[in-house]
Amino acid sequence: MPDNAVFRALCRRRFLQFLAGSPVLAGAALGAGGRTFGAYQAAPPIGNPGDALDVFDFEAVVRETMPPAHYGYMASGSDDDASLALNREGFARYAIRPRRLVDVRQVDTSVTLFGRRWPSPITLAPVGGQRMFHPDGELAAARAARVDGHLQILSTMSGHSVEDVTEARGGPVWYQLYPQGSLEVARALVARAEAAGSSVIVLTIDLLAGRNMQTSARFARMDTRNCESCHDPENPFGMKPMIAGLDPDVAATMGPNTAVDWDFVRRLRDSVRGRLLIKGVESGEDAAMAVGDAGLDGVIVSNHGGRAAQTGRGTIEALPEVVEAVGGRAPVLVDGGFRRGTDMFKALALGAAAVSIGRPYVWGMGAFGQAGVERVLEIMDAEFRRTMRQAGVTSVDGIDPSYVVRR
Ligand SMILES: Cc1cc2nc3c(=O)[nH]c(=O)nc-3n(C[C@H](O)[C@H](O)[C@H](O)COP(=O)(O)O)c2cc1C
Repeated sequence: MPDNAVFRALCRRRFLQFLAGSPVLAGAALGAGGRTFGAYQAAPPIGNPGDALDVFDFEAVVRETMPPAHYGYMASGSDDDASLALNREGFARYAIRPRRLVDVRQVDTSVTLFGRRWPSPITLAPVGGQRMFHPDGELAAARAARVDGHLQILSTMSGHSVEDVTEARGGPVWYQLYPQGSLEVARALVARAEAAGSSVIVLTIDLLAGRNMQTSARFARMDTRNCESCHDPENPFGMKPMIAGLDPDVAATMGPNTAVDWDFVRRLRDSVRGRLLIKGVESGEDAAMAVGDAGLDGVIVSNHGGRAAQTGRGTIEALPEVVEAVGGRAPVLVDGGFRRGTDMFKALALGAAAVSIGRPYVWGMGAFGQAGVERVLEIMDAEFRRTMRQAGVTSVDGIDPSYVVRR
């Protein structure tokens, strides 16, 4: 009988092989770590961040080392993970049209959002409970973002407070808000984030209908650890300092019983001093409503990394209709499946002002803490800069729709 750890590793490998064999996932989301093309180069997982050749190298590490329940929660999409896979596949439906013989010695990758310049279009998407991946959690992400000045969006479900993360980042973060069904609670969270310096609030709207995370549930069944030392059933939000003091009934309300609609958004708008964006937009109609009648300052095209509704469309394919509906009135950001500099280039060409990554920096963090997140950002920045050079563009403003073609 193998010992427990070996047995669990065998189960995990079998399970991943099973998932990789599913027709939807073949070679896409989990099985090959998400590399879309080419053979998955079977090599031992890397031992330090400097050895990583691409962001998938970090995924290979956490696939072996992260507790199964945490890995499954992070990796999971909804239902059969189809939207998760389609986020990646969507990029293959667009091709880059390069221009040659351009002097690309000097390339400027910076973008401007609400009057502030950021050296890179990559932002860290809000990811809840990052202490699940590394004890330093959001602080590790903040310190890594600080190195080259990346924008960080902090989740309501953060494992560290907005005050501590702001200090670690060395400046304000954008603050992501779950509506929690109560305008008073939302206002209190906004006031706390604003007091910490956050001048941009991001309201996530794509979990209001509930979700079905089967992969997460299957992995959790393989986890034999005692989870109650961290997940205290008496105090389910004890590890979430931003909502720890709230009435648990309110803190938990994000599903279909939550009365959140456009009227809620308009009333919230009135109590946000700075900018208010919504995250989770996938249609031109919602985008037009957001920047029109609702008076919002921007939208983020997102399907929660394929872990909210099962729409069957990758976010890169929803981006063009949103950009068209917004019509230049406000910035449009996008996330979902960004793993390569070429993915970023395509999104910017289709009209995105910036892109966010979720899982890639979690892989880096789970593997090597802050150093892993730093290396993930470094790799994606380098790939993006190289893609700009290869396409013959020297500034982000110059990346227009003529640089991509639908295949
Ligand atoms: C483990 C995990 C936790 C997440 N938590 C949040 C959250 O608290 N708030 C939120 O708005 N989005 C959350 N997201 C969604 C991300 O902000 C982002 O939309 C998504 O990860 C982008 O896709 P990608 O992981 O393929 O890069 C989470 C995603 C993951 C993977």
